[in-house]
Amino acid sequence: MHGEVQISGAKNAVLPIMAATLLTSERCVIRRVPRLSDVRFMGQILTWLGAQVRLEGDAVHVHAKKIKGAGEYDLIRKMRGSICIMGPLLGRLKKATVSLPGGCVIGARPINLHLKGFEALGAKVVIEGGYVHASARRLVGSAMFLGGRAGSTVLGTANVMMAAVLAEGVTVIESAACEPEVVDLANFLNAMGARIAGAGSPTVTITGVKELHGVEHEVIPDRIEAATYAIAAAATNGEVNLRGARADHMHAILDKLNESGVKVERNGSGFTVRRNGRLKPVDITTLPYSGFPTDAQAQMMALMTVTPGISIITERIFESRFMHVSELTRLGAEIEIEGPSAIIKGGKNLSGAPVMASDLRASAALVIAGLAARGTTQVNRVYHIDRGYENIDGKLRQLGARIERIEES
Ligand code: EPZ
Repeated sequence: MHGEVQISGAKNAVLPIMAATLLTSERCVIRRVPRLSDVRFMGQILTWLGAQVRLEGDAVHVHAKKIKGAGEYDLIRKMRGSICIMGPLLGRLKKATVSLPGGCVIGARPINLHLKGFEALGAKVVIEGGYVHASARRLVGSAMFLGGRAGSTVLGTANVMMAAVLAEGVTVIESAACEPEVVDLANFLNAMGARIAGAGSPTVTITGVKELHGVEHEVIPDRIEAATYAIAAAATNGEVNLRGARADHMHAILDKLNESGVKVERNGSGFTVRRNGRLKPVDITTLPYSGFPTDAQAQMMALMTVTPGISIITERIFESRFMHVSELTRLGAEIEIEGPSAIIKGGKNLSGAPVMASDLRASAALVIAGLAARGTTQVNRVYHIDRGYENIDGKLRQLGARIERIEES
């Protein structure tokens, strides 16, 4: 693959930022919004809550003048990320009812830490009939520890931050998630008039304010989309410039690419990746930010299947995020799973076959493996990939890939 690709706005920044617009009765405009099914879902949920939502080009206009406090089951169940409407509803209305998001293929994904944070702010939390109800006469700032089994929680930190911005007094979140998407949300909230300090570090301090105002904001580029194209370039022995990508959000990923023999050159518009001779096997352990992101684990595994030698990938964030292993094996890869680790005996020539996507990042890994395999690979259930990648087949064709979307019969 050769050429240049424009990196879109970050899905995992846009979703909580769209939810945060519920915190003000004034207009908000969010720019560099990727056209994704998850964004449309969040738009439907905000509309259902009473907000006026308009998707226009790469912008979303939201006016949550008057809203109600309950999120409808059918909409919420479609997208786990929508749990992050709970914090803004509780913050603004002092009540929120949202259907409990069930587990998903990558893990149980409980929300106990979100609820722990709301209770620490003085909310009464009740789980009943598949719904979680949180309510409070008043929210009062307090100190809390939000670390869990796998360390910090991204949407848990976001949710509690959004409930605390309108609380009375000071809230201190310890073991807060440090992801760039959490920082982008804090920047959006501060632009609305909130007082958040320390976002991006494990200790976040929020001083409550009376009200927030409307704002315009451009979201950060998607580091996971950028990682996916960088890895695809390496897997196909190509050279690609990732326009708009932020290398400073991707240290762990670029470090591993470098270690595996991929050259990364920063430039004014982003950075370029190209293979520098033979690939080398690397070991990876997924960790909370600034460690190696779990959302790039599957894609990196696809690269290691075509890399001569043994590499070990250990998944520490989600209990069952190896759904792509059996499908990569269908393409001829040799992978063994031992507890939380996958041992990849790489360097085999992959050969194209029909495969099944199981979740967003697994489907990206199958596309990368398909690009590196001989013959034709057919990836089924691409609705998974449309949730998180804007126009992936169009962008890959731009880089010289032979890929086409066919309607499933
Ligand atoms: C966010 O999910 C992302 N989603 C995920 O991206 C990403 O994989 C994940 O963070 C980790 O980086 C969005 O931002 C919309 P967590 P989130 O709470 O916030 C456990 C993608 O591919 N946990 O940080 O739901 C949890 O089970 C998606 O774009 C608790 O135990 O993840 C997991 O093991 C997939 N209790 C770990 O913490 C809680 O209350 C990290 O989860 C919350 C989480």
